Amino acid sequence: MEIIIVIILAYLLGSIPSALIVGKVGYGIDIREHGSGNLGGTNTFRTLGVKAGLIVTIADILKGTLATALPIIFAADVHPLLVGSFAVVGHVYPIFAKFKGGKAVATSGGVLLFYSPLLFVIMLACFFLCLYLTKYVSLSSMITAVVATLYSLFQGDGALIIVVSILSAFVIFKHRANIKRIANKTEPKIKWL
Ligand code: G3P
Repeated sequence: MEIIIVIILAYLLGSIPSALIVGKVGYGIDIREHGSGNLGGTNTFRTLGVKAGLIVTIADILKGTLATALPIIFAADVHPLLVGSFAVVGHVYPIFAKFKGGKAVATSGGVLLFYSPLLFVIMLACFFLCLYLTKYVSLSSMITAVVATLYSLFQGDGALIIVVSILSAFVIFKHRANIKRIANKTEPKIKWL
């Protein structure tokens, strides 16, 4: 019973649409009608600026982190990475926002922050290095997903390999439109790094 409870809680936690809430409550706008339309930190940075973008990114990371801690909090005998993954599903397909959410990046990062803080730090370093070199958030997110998968392979932790591979594939799948825009040279670049 605890297992079902933590999985449902993780999905509901992931479903909290931080970008939608910050946009509507703080600025009176629906972030889905602006920029890429994505309910994520990047589109919030793009549309509402640094403060709102940071709040949304941190909230989206924490959703994954807290969800991954749920098996410990509820003493449920289920792998934390499995439970954390349901927060990512909630973030991408949120029940509170018509099942149209983000692209799985920050919440997946939050899952790994709890399970393997070292991997999270490596991912952060990789993301910002790629961002500095390419100026594309989307491309940096996808490269970071691939690097995380390679890291998990070297760790030899079966659960980590499976979950990181699936989450990384999910991240790349959700960036299909970005990949097309990068190829067309219409993907926006960041200007501040
Ligand atoms: O984390 C999402 C980011 O990689 C891309 O977001 O709004 O540019 O599609 P966006």
